Amino acid sequence: MQVIDKIISNFINSKSLYIGEKVTISEHMIQTAMLAEKAKCDDNLICSSLLHDYGHFILENPDELVKLNVDGQHENIGYEYLKSFFKKEIVEPIKYHVLAKRYLAREKKYFDLLSEASKISLELQGGVLNQEECNKFEKQEYFKPSILLRKFDEAAKKTGVKMKDINDYKNLLNSNLL
Ligand SMILES: [Fe+2]
Repeated sequence: MQVIDKIISNFINSKSLYIGEKVTISEHMIQTAMLAEKAKCDDNLICSSLLHDYGHFILENPDELVKLNVDGQHENIGYEYLKSFFKKEIVEPIKYHVLAKRYLAREKKYFDLLSEASKISLELQGGVLNQEECNKFEKQEYFKPSILLRKFDEAAKKTGVKMKDINDYKNLLNSNLL
């Protein structure tokens, strides 16, 4: 099976809820992409947004991992898998989207926006970054898109939203393959 068909079928077949939320992982990722489109981001960032939690599909049971107090490192798992198929501009912000949360969570305003599940996972992910780690992250080539992706990510957990279909993104996915 071609990778795009496999990705699309995972989006359609996965019914797992996003940890601690009322939307499925598939709905959450599609909403993240829709927010990137709404903000008129480039195709690279829309594609990153769409795939940013793909690692959760790969991890067998993300809910179990959280219950066990183990961070599944879904960002690395997704990155490692997707980098064989997609351009660097797509996969780098995916790798950094958890680091971006740890960066943004230094601000109380952002921290307060996090869901309870996201606050718990923040601790499992290593907590907020210190100043030295922040300076290092700011110098990364993909710092800006990673931060933007994270902001869309946080806002993409709504129910009752008119959703796009994963098939609407088939051309976008195809055009961002290596
Ligand atoms: Fe996410």
